[in-house]
Amino acid sequence: MAVALRAGVRPDDRVAVRRLVASTGFFTANEEEIAVELVEDALAKGESGSGYHFLFAEDGGHVVGYVCFGPIAGTAASHDLYWIVVDSARRGGGVGRVLERACVDAVKALGGLRLYVDTSSRSQYEPTRAFYRASGYEEVARLKDFYAAGDGKVIFVKALDAGTAPGAA
Ligand SMILES: CC(C)(COP(=O)(O)OP(=O)(O)OC[C@H]1O[C@@H](n2cnc3c(N)ncnc32)[C@H](O)[C@@H]1OP(=O)(O)O)[C@@H](O)C(=O)NCCC(=O)NCCS
Repeated sequence: MAVALRAGVRPDDRVAVRRLVASTGFFTANEEEIAVELVEDALAKGESGSGYHFLFAEDGGHVVGYVCFGPIAGTAASHDLYWIVVDSARRGGGVGRVLERACVDAVKALGGLRLYVDTSSRSQYEPTRAFYRASGYEEVARLKDFYAAGDGKVIFVKALDAGTAPGAA
């Protein structure tokens, strides 16, 4: 069955986000808490007020993936793709692509021109990096030992206006 997209965060998304993030086996308990805190912030202040916007992919009303994004304070039009997570049982089935494309459309609608995403340099995240490359992101920086010794931060960017090269100022 094809997934349906839902905009707008709901109270029961706290449980869904925790379940999805835990299903990946990628994230620490602390990172899981941070993911849920972003949902709570958006519930408390609204998506515009919190700066955390959400889109959920649902199959038969069951949440199978989500993306969280928002404007980067202090920039003219740069946005951050904070989280994109697909249920481990659905990984590799195109749900991430649907979410990423919808996120790009939503960021453009918010006036965003550049979409940044960062991830770990660890080998576990090579499929994640492959997903970003396949989705049109360019690797623009690597910060050695950023998260921990041997665990660097890899920064990708996608320019959302067709005329701007990713490396351009
Ligand atoms: C990264 C993630 C969101 C991608 O979602 P997905 O639904 O698995 O990805 P899709 O099936 O839509 O893949 C889209 C394209 O990305 C690339 N890709 C996806 N998984 C890949 C893998 N394991 N290896 C290589 N390329 C891959 C492919 O080019 C793929 O297109 P194709 O199927 O036509 O070849 C998902 O796998 C995930 O939740 N991973 C764990 C959590 C994570 O790392 N999140 C990001 C950090 S917040």
